[in-house]
Amino acid sequence: MKNGARFAFHDLAPGEESFRDAVLAGLERAPKRIPCKFFYDARGSALFEEICRLPEYYPTRTEVVILEENSSDIAAQMGPHCRVIEFGSGASQKIRILLQALERPAAYVPVDISREHLRDAAIGLAEDFPSVPVVAVCADYTRPFPLPPLPGAGGKRVGFFPGSTIGNFEPDAAVAFLANYAHILGPKGEMLIGVDLKKETDILEAAYNDRAGVTAAFNLNLLERVNRELDGDLDIDRFEHLAFYSSAEGRVEIYIRSLAHQTAQIAGRRFRFAKDELVHTEYSYKYSVDEFRVLAARAGFRPVDTWTDPGELFSVHYFRLR
Ligand code: AVI
Repeated sequence: MKNGARFAFHDLAPGEESFRDAVLAGLERAPKRIPCKFFYDARGSALFEEICRLPEYYPTRTEVVILEENSSDIAAQMGPHCRVIEFGSGASQKIRILLQALERPAAYVPVDISREHLRDAAIGLAEDFPSVPVVAVCADYTRPFPLPPLPGAGGKRVGFFPGSTIGNFEPDAAVAFLANYAHILGPKGEMLIGVDLKKETDILEAAYNDRAGVTAAFNLNLLERVNRELDGDLDIDRFEHLAFYSSAEGRVEIYIRSLAHQTAQIAGRRFRFAKDELVHTEYSYKYSVDEFRVLAARAGFRPVDTWTDPGELFSVHYFRLR
C-alpha cells in the first residue's frame, strides 16, 4: 500500500448461501427461479460493468451526473466529519464523487460480501484519498451485523446505497433491507440512495434489451455458471433472454426462456424444461419519487431532499431517520 493511506479490514466471516443449493432448490420450484445475486461471478461482474457503459442503460451515467452536479448540496446535508457506510460497495467508484465534495469525512466504510474484491477496491480508494480513513467490513449486509468502532465519534453515520440496487428487492424485502440499514446506522443515521424512476416502457425495455446483447449475455451467464460450477450440461443455445416492463407491477421482469422441450443434468440431478417455460432471474422495480418516499417511511426514514436529472430518468434521495 502506498505511504499515507489509512486502511483497516474487518472480516466478519459471512456465510454465503451456496450457488448449488439455490440452483437446485430454485429449479425444483414452479415457476423456476435463480436469485439475481448469483449474476455476479467474475464474468457476470465484467458483463455488468459493460452494461453500465451501454448507450441504452441510462441509470449509471445519469446517477453519476446527478451526484456530480449536486455534490455540494449533498455534502452540505452530510456535514463535516461524516462517516459514510456503503453496503454492496463493489468497485467503490461513485463514492469518489462524494469524497471530493465532503468536508473532512471521518471515515469511508465499504461493506461487501466479496472479500478479495472488497479488499482491492478499498485499498485503491485509501491510496487515492490518503486523508480519508477507510474501514472495510466483509459482511452479509442483508442481515444485522456489528459495525466496528469508527473514527470521528462526533460525525454522522450516513448510508450510501447508489445504483438503484434497492429496485432488485421486492417491496417488502426492500423495506426489511432499509430497516436493517437503519438499525446499523443507529438512531441518528441518514441515507443517500439512488433509485431508478418510472418512465416510458420503451426506454425501460431498451435498457434491459440492448442491441449489443450484453444484458442477454449477462442473464444467460447464469446458465453458463451452472455448467461451469455445477457440472451441468444445459444447451445454452436452446434458451433465450426475456425482459419486459410490467406497468401493473412497476417493475422490469427478467427471465430465461426455454426454446424447446428439453432436459438437463445439473449436479447429478435431471431437470425438465417445457418449451416456453420461464426461469425467473430478476425484478428491477421502478418508483416515482413519492412512491419511494412512502416505501422508505415504512423503514423509519423521513425525506429531506431529492435530486433528479432534467429528463427525470433517475432520482437520488436524502433521508434522515425519524
Ligand atoms: C444492479 N441492478 C440495479 C441492475 C438493474 O438495473 O436492476 C441489474 C441489471 N440487470 C440487468 N441489467 C442491469
